[in-house]
Amino acid sequence: MRPFLEGEAAANFGNAASLHRQGQAAKAALERARRTCAEVLGCSPEEIVFTSGGTESNYLALRAMAWAARRRWDEAKTPGMPRLAASRIEHAAVHEALRGLQREGFELAGDGHSNVGANANGQVDPAELLAACDERTAVVTLMLANNETGAVQLVADLARLLDKRFGTRPGRWWPRLHVDAVQAAGKLALKVEALGCDTLALSAHKFEGPKGVGLLYVRRGVGLDAPMGGGGHEGGYRGGTPNVAGAAGMAEALRLAEAERVSAVARVTKLRSLFEDSLRARVGDAVVHGAKAERIGNTSFVSFPGLDGPALVLALDAEGVSCSTGAACSEGIGRPSHVLEAMGVSAEFGRAAVRFSFGRLTTEYEVYAAVERVGKVVGRMRA
Ligand SMILES: Cc1ncc(COP(=O)(O)O)c(C=O)c1O
Repeated sequence: MRPFLEGEAAANFGNAASLHRQGQAAKAALERARRTCAEVLGCSPEEIVFTSGGTESNYLALRAMAWAARRRWDEAKTPGMPRLAASRIEHAAVHEALRGLQREGFELAGDGHSNVGANANGQVDPAELLAACDERTAVVTLMLANNETGAVQLVADLARLLDKRFGTRPGRWWPRLHVDAVQAAGKLALKVEALGCDTLALSAHKFEGPKGVGLLYVRRGVGLDAPMGGGGHEGGYRGGTPNVAGAAGMAEALRLAEAERVSAVARVTKLRSLFEDSLRARVGDAVVHGAKAERIGNTSFVSFPGLDGPALVLALDAEGVSCSTGAACSEGIGRPSHVLEAMGVSAEFGRAAVRFSFGRLTTEYEVYAAVERVGKVVGRMRA
């Protein structure tokens, strides 16, 4: 990233949209980054739109697909408004984007009011999501891995069911399938053809890239109505001077995350198992959510019956253990996790939940130390 941040490397410091040589050098770096990302996703570079992160990518995809549907509905004089189908375990960025669209007149699929829930292991049944769809459904959205439980969602199965019921791509216009794969990068394969999605969101900081940069894969021919116009950047999908350093950093991080994925997953999953086994031995009634589902290996979401999650997070922080309740971004809101709620977990049990994360730099020693300190703090709080 440094050549594109540091003034001394003036040759690279141009605006990638400028015609002069400095601009074209930056543009070359941007396109290099695009090719690298496209390779990991198994798509062509023109199908990659750089954004400011996962939230923006989700908003862009959902709003742009919904409004593209609306325009075509209008042209065809189709009565009613296009519908949107989603699970209840999606990230707040997806739910908020859908709420905004509802305020603009779009409707939720199914009974018109609610999204589709998950089973006790945190997995959404693709058949249930399909059952919520009808001929008016324009957009279906399902995350690839949940950010709280880590539960892997059956996206490819859902894509196959949609193909079977509504016809296969590329001829099929609706429903479009959006995938929030923000948590999955570096943990699961991300080949968009195998997933069968129309759009897919990533955020660089989830695979140890820079914060504040992400991407949206937009399958060729999807034809979005770009909600954020401007100077025609990013294939017209996203106006704004591109973040060249961010894109370069993200591309390299994604390349490394994919190259090291299999060995990193094995190592981190082993650490997570060690953590959960040792924790159960130390705190007998600790319950790991989604333990029976296929989960990405970096997350452990644990309820400590009778305790208050936020209080436990603060007490553990004082002991040098950094953990979270639910999603880090909704920390401080004080609501029990909507993901646990969607899994049928009681509010009291949900409030007692704390999420631990493991990364490439986590060591076995740290796992033992964390378990020891959690045990100590839980014992003290209960006393
Ligand atoms: C599943 C999921 N989607 C979207 C986001 C939002 O990404 P960003 O923080 O890059 O906007 C997150 C961030 O935690 C996430 O976990």
